[in-house]
Amino acid sequence: MTASVDVKASPDRLYGRQRGHPLRPRQQRLLDQTLPRMRFPESAIADPAAGFGHRPAQIWLEVGFGGGEHSLAQHAAHPDVGYIACEVFENGLCSLLSRVVPDDGEATAPVPDMLRIWDEDARILLRGLPDASIDRLFLMFPDPWPKSRHAKRRFVHPETVKQAARILRPGAVWRVASDDPTYQAWVEEVMGAQDLFETAPPATLRPEGWPPTRYEAKALKAGRQPLYWTFVRR
Ligand SMILES: C[S@@+](CC[C@H](N)C(=O)[O-])C[C@H]1O[C@@H](n2cnc3c(N)ncnc32)[C@H](O)[C@@H]1O
Repeated sequence: MTASVDVKASPDRLYGRQRGHPLRPRQQRLLDQTLPRMRFPESAIADPAAGFGHRPAQIWLEVGFGGGEHSLAQHAAHPDVGYIACEVFENGLCSLLSRVVPDDGEATAPVPDMLRIWDEDARILLRGLPDASIDRLFLMFPDPWPKSRHAKRRFVHPETVKQAARILRPGAVWRVASDDPTYQAWVEEVMGAQDLFETAPPATLRPEGWPPTRYEAKALKAGRQPLYWTFVRR
């Protein structure tokens, strides 16, 4: 069953920064001219395959793509998969878009028709997508919210886990990576207390087929140990 979604009326509150430094002219053009051409349409939420250039056999979803390295690498490696990349931070959106179109091609250069961007809160999209409509979910280095009073803001959360399980088809994989010790323990706790996903101990080295991300590089440089989980929808 698909919930009806009203993006504007969402009660969700985003806590992270959505706007960083003032945008340069190129960045403003990317948001004004390129983003609308790549945006995942609200009208396709109930039938997400309709949101791409052609109906894909599989749809993958990434929450919080940051600079977009992982989304672009996955899209390049799997060009026939319909990929929905979610990010709310403007500089992150610009970073991905700047690698898709050349300078001065913001309004006219071709954009990939199997890579779509959702620039609202990913939780809104999750709530609206139909049951068993997504084949893979990526959550790479989510904001850790290390203080326990902020635990409700963590993306891995019993409520979100239920929603993720609902939209993933049986056998689908949810990949989670984190370098934050509090978040790592939290993932173990939350995922250990549910039975919607099969769990396994996390890898300590980035597994094959997981493109690197900017946050991972920062974590490794700072001497933090990332963990990489693969959860399988029962
Ligand atoms: C710590 S960064 C990691 C970025 C990237 N995945 C990486 O590994 O380099 C987390 C990102 O998630 C984004 N984010 C947080 N909550 C989100 C939400 N509800 N919907 C979409 N993006 C979100 C933030 O804006 C931020 O850019």
